[in-house]
Amino acid sequence: MPTKTVFEPFRIKSVEPIRWTTRAQREELLRAAHYNLFLLPADDVLIDLLTDSGTGAMSTHQWAAIMEGDESYAGSRSFDRFRNSVQSIFGYKHVIPTHQGRAAERILFKVMCKPGDVVPNNTHFDTTRANVESVGAEAVDLLKPEGRHPETRLPFKGNMDVDALDTLIARVGRERIPLVMLTVTNNSGGGQPVSMENARAVSAVCHKHGIPLYFDACRFAENAYFVQQREPGYADKTPRQIAQEMFALGDGCTMSAKKDGMANIGGFLCTNDDLLARQEKDLLILTEGYPTYGGLAGRDLEAIAVGLGEALEQDYLRYRIASTAYLGDHISAKGVPIVQPPGGHAIYIDAKAFLPHVPVDEFPGVALAAELYLEGGIRSVEIGSLMFGSAAQMELVRLAIPRRVYTQSHIDYVVEIILRVWERRDRIKGMRLTYEAPFLRHFTAHLEPMG
Ligand code: F0G
Repeated sequence: MPTKTVFEPFRIKSVEPIRWTTRAQREELLRAAHYNLFLLPADDVLIDLLTDSGTGAMSTHQWAAIMEGDESYAGSRSFDRFRNSVQSIFGYKHVIPTHQGRAAERILFKVMCKPGDVVPNNTHFDTTRANVESVGAEAVDLLKPEGRHPETRLPFKGNMDVDALDTLIARVGRERIPLVMLTVTNNSGGGQPVSMENARAVSAVCHKHGIPLYFDACRFAENAYFVQQREPGYADKTPRQIAQEMFALGDGCTMSAKKDGMANIGGFLCTNDDLLARQEKDLLILTEGYPTYGGLAGRDLEAIAVGLGEALEQDYLRYRIASTAYLGDHISAKGVPIVQPPGGHAIYIDAKAFLPHVPVDEFPGVALAAELYLEGGIRSVEIGSLMFGSAAQMELVRLAIPRRVYTQSHIDYVVEIILRVWERRDRIKGMRLTYEAPFLRHFTAHLEPMG
């Protein structure tokens, strides 16, 4: 019988000290950072939940593989290992390494899209949207409506609205839709998974119209685990088998290996199309590198080759998803409003419901993120009106959990700090912008507390 306690399925061999700060120091540091947590030195953060991207801990097997890295410019042995590892899971004919996910996106959309085209997705991540728009195409989010309601508890809130996809194709015409994308799991919508049934239905609509389906596969292993746990018929399949089945429904993918590649850098682009692969490799050579390294070192390719397999291990995924849910369940049990159910890589606090007295134009998410830092040195990220302006659908604070980095007592500490801030929520003030850049303003904005 499985035990109630799910412990970290690893021992710790190398540790990184955390430097303590006092509340008084943090007040000074936050002021100096203009109340924007991106502008803080990482050394002044106690628990860093800014992102799960590239912040994970590598295993002994990955570090050992790094020493095997073949740094040849062309035809590196490390590329063969990388390609074999990717193909054993994703199954696509062409595997093109890139330095991270957005480089794969840039090449894909540059080759496949032209001005006036339309790219549907369940929800575009911000770099995905920006890369679609930078080639003059339109990025359309077709998330099922329940995915926009934080409190609704459903197993697959990342699903695409298949009827809306059909309607969109009928309205704009198949010729203007060069590809459809599915993001697994749906990061901008709370780390919620996509079901196999939904992927199958989207694939059927795409292929009926001759439109290729691509996956934004960043968190594919977490998605596969949710399918195993929640979707009828998958309980006896391994996460690897589920991932293979899902990718077989598509024609290619983009991937950031900084997430479920368990690496600190890297990514790739896959396709089954020979002609596209040739054009993509030509572009790759222009800015990323030769097609057997694509802007990565041979050792990075080795780390990813091993990491992809580790991300699919049952024990790892059980711990990973349980530890994210542990944080979400412990704060929501005390009334803290979060996107339900807990996502794979992160917990998203509903800042609008947390701070109902702070109007949206006073950035409740930024105000809450600042308080979490002041109270306990926790760094999170606002996903709301500062990040998306008037296009923001929700006011969220994301607490992203780096892979294999923090233990349960770190998470207990985070719970304690959030609950302390929750107790005095009615005294938290909104924020005012004092400087903003013309685009992607959240990275560099300056703010100050109201009043
Ligand atoms: N797609 C999704 C769904 C992502 O979450 C990200 C990155 C990317 C693409 C781009 O990958 O960073 O390797 O270029 N998300 C990070 C985050 C940055 O914090 O959620 P990249």
